Amino acid sequence: MKTIAVIFGGRSTEHDVSIVTAIASIIKPLELTKEYRVEPIYIARDGAWYWDPKLKDIKLFTSGDIDDFIRRSHPVSVQFDGGMTLVKSSGIAGRKQLKQIDVVFPAMHGTYGEDGSLMGLLEMAGVPYVGCGVAASAIAMDKVLAKQLAVGCGIATSKFLAFSKAELERDSAKIVKQIKSDLAFPLFVKPAHLGSSIGISRVVNEAELRNGLEVAAHYDNSVIVEEAVQNLIEVTLPIMGFADDPKPALLEQPMTKPEDFFDFETKYMQGGKKGKGKGGQKNGGGAQGYSQIPADLPPALYAKAEATGLAVYKALGCSGTARVDMLIDSKSGEVYFNEVNPLPGGLYAHNWKAAGISSVDLVQKLIGLAEDRARHTQQLTTSFSTNYLKQF
Ligand SMILES: Nc1ncnc2c1ncn2[C@@H]1O[C@H](COP(=O)(O)OP(=O)(O)O)[C@@H](O)[C@H]1O
Ligand SMILES: [Mg+2]
Repeated sequence: MKTIAVIFGGRSTEHDVSIVTAIASIIKPLELTKEYRVEPIYIARDGAWYWDPKLKDIKLFTSGDIDDFIRRSHPVSVQFDGGMTLVKSSGIAGRKQLKQIDVVFPAMHGTYGEDGSLMGLLEMAGVPYVGCGVAASAIAMDKVLAKQLAVGCGIATSKFLAFSKAELERDSAKIVKQIKSDLAFPLFVKPAHLGSSIGISRVVNEAELRNGLEVAAHYDNSVIVEEAVQNLIEVTLPIMGFADDPKPALLEQPMTKPEDFFDFETKYMQGGKKGKGKGGQKNGGGAQGYSQIPADLPPALYAKAEATGLAVYKALGCSGTARVDMLIDSKSGEVYFNEVNPLPGGLYAHNWKAAGISSVDLVQKLIGLAEDRARHTQQLTTSFSTNYLKQF
């Protein structure tokens, strides 16, 4: 039986969302297969790692007992021994509990998890892991890099400019002038790295723009300013597989009202109370509220949005799974790439289910992809001998 470590929590604003993704959408279906031993690894808000079967129980977190659990537990350490082994002191006469891991299933959202840093660690350890690799994850978590790459690959984005915090501090008047001459209001000002709409503003004049820039630079060293897409229809497309053969799920249209667009509460807390699906599928878990699956678009526009999503997945070199968000101008029929989520909340299992893939199939396929990628990587030639050292 293979041992799968599911890593969740972490030092990110999306810590709590990650707990639900891990327990409900990954650990539960993995255990239903009866084919894997599942080891939960919880990274607390301070960055310490814990490993204990009790961490599979959502009640530990919802009840607040987790604080007490942490006080009484020893953090786990990780041994890189040509793979990955968990090491926990049992507290009895220096005895240690060890567990070798076959595949890691990262279930982290946001910084230090979804952004490529955890993937780098796993890559160094030589342990197969689910989802996008280091580069795709890092690019996806940077709205500036992702858009620059997309543009380089001929994919449409709304017109944007990017600035560093240092540039903004040095000469904000010049930057405001440049924005006003190159871009047209209304604009969106965003920190490049955060998710969940934190630090994002929609601005319609210079005073608001100045304020928006200040807010975004408060959160991030990199800020993006982009033109608002008019007559907006938002769609998102979960995708699975390797970049050379990606498989789309269904195009999904979140049914939130425009005024709710950047509200963390709307996205994660309301369980869809604010939106109304007109005959669309209601998502389980409340993470994304109501949405229409498949999106109610004319066939040609649906195909164009799907092709854009797949092109982005390829351009970034995603693997495993990712979800590509797009903004559509319903009048012009233009589809703009907005962002990529390398680990969508709940794996977007509700959408895969609508596309005919159960949550059990989904996690199994993702583990299969992780093992395939590790096998391909191993087969690459990564060394060659030289006489370089002999000359010394
Ligand atoms: N260029 C834009 N035009 C229109 N709406 C936008 C634009 N950029 C962002 N939005 C709105 O703001 C929301 C949050 O922006 P997004 O870039 O997706 O950040 P986050 O990482 O917080 O999800 C989007 O879902 C969309 O509703
Ligand atoms: Mg978004």
